[in-house]
Amino acid sequence: MQNLIIFKKKINKFNKKISVPGDKSLSIRWVLFSSLATGISKAQNLLHSEDVLSAIKSIQKLGIKVILNKKFCKIYGQGFDGYKYKKNLLLNARNSGTLGRLILGLLINSPTSIKLIGDKSLSKRDFKRIADPLKMFGANFKLNKNKTLPLVIKGSQNLKPIYYNENKGSAQCKSSVIFGGMRTVGETIIKAKKSRNHTELLCKYLGLPIKVKNNKNYDLIKINKVKKIKSLNYKIPSDISSASFFIVLTALSNKSKLIIKNVNVNPTRIGIVNILKKMGVKINLINKKKYKGEKVADIHVYGSENFKSLNCPPKLNSGAIDEFLLIFLIAAKADGISYFSDLAELNQKESPRLKWGAKILKMMGVKIKLTKNSIKIFGNPKLKVNKKIIIKNYLKDHRVFMTSAIAALSFGGAWHIHNKDSIKTSFPSFLKILNLINK
Ligand code: S3P
Repeated sequence: MQNLIIFKKKINKFNKKISVPGDKSLSIRWVLFSSLATGISKAQNLLHSEDVLSAIKSIQKLGIKVILNKKFCKIYGQGFDGYKYKKNLLLNARNSGTLGRLILGLLINSPTSIKLIGDKSLSKRDFKRIADPLKMFGANFKLNKNKTLPLVIKGSQNLKPIYYNENKGSAQCKSSVIFGGMRTVGETIIKAKKSRNHTELLCKYLGLPIKVKNNKNYDLIKINKVKKIKSLNYKIPSDISSASFFIVLTALSNKSKLIIKNVNVNPTRIGIVNILKKMGVKINLINKKKYKGEKVADIHVYGSENFKSLNCPPKLNSGAIDEFLLIFLIAAKADGISYFSDLAELNQKESPRLKWGAKILKMMGVKIKLTKNSIKIFGNPKLKVNKKIIIKNYLKDHRVFMTSAIAALSFGGAWHIHNKDSIKTSFPSFLKILNLINK
């Protein structure tokens, strides 16, 4: 069975230097911004994963020429109003919530109907959260009764700016409304619970009419109609979410060391670093540099056997939202009881990840207490897994697959992990890099 991988042995101590591919959030945003630019944009180190390829296919369907090869990607922007497409266009976001939600913000002035579909996982996810604010601008939506995909959007030529209170901490919703505001005459105001801020940083870097005020618990964003976007050459920094699998693998492998080069360490993305530090993981950001509004650094991480339990402050959640399955593995080996709360959003991801976290830990023999939005993990510093564990993940969640692989190599046991193909979504070279470390 090709799509199954079996691990039977813990990893040996290692000392390695690696790179991981380009950041997924930045790659998708670069594709979308470049599709609106006037002129040719070029990217290096663009993530070549299915989510990003879906973004490229979508802008091609909107009439934008793209050249993609191993070394670079070129996008031939036709200007801010340069999309050209036929009536009743069909766009397929496949597995990507980021693409599906962000692109809708760009389509709120579409003169004709566009149908948006996705794969089985995306078709279970909430699109009301983005249809609601985009309707306030004047866009029209046809949604089914579950408020999920497929949906049909038809834009309006008479858009009105909105005031939007984004209270979930969703960067996808915030970014989509920023895109909507870019299409609309007048000032759109967003009060946003903290979440990753790549869209705002790109807008600023491109000189677009955006103002951001960072308050303690929320950001206030004001955006006006955009006339023109200049083309954007970009070398995409590496993805901290991909790096995190190896950060946790190293942390759990006593006396090991790993360096991960040139990773995007935007402060809104390094929740995992901040949380693991509180749990006693030795992890440092070295060679910090600025790159086009973002921050990059090399990550140095060291393995240990001693971890502290944590009552995790919910304000750290948004910066680690894609990394909690991994953080739970450290909590499983920590000395004491860890508690993670206010995590209902985790069940809104590619699969219900809070439930998956609990399921994986239980299979490993870890005592947990799960509610709808929290988990208590009873850590055991001597934790070892001696049994057979089967992970079958029918929604094919890439992060469930990769976390299971890290758990297998960190705790031992005979792990049969299905749906290997899921890594194509965000990190196609995951197993190749894992093999380099696990030699
Ligand atoms: C993303 C935002 C987050 C994150 C996702 C990528 C983005 O989703 O989980 O993987 O690029 O904006 P939410 O906006 O649903 O929190």
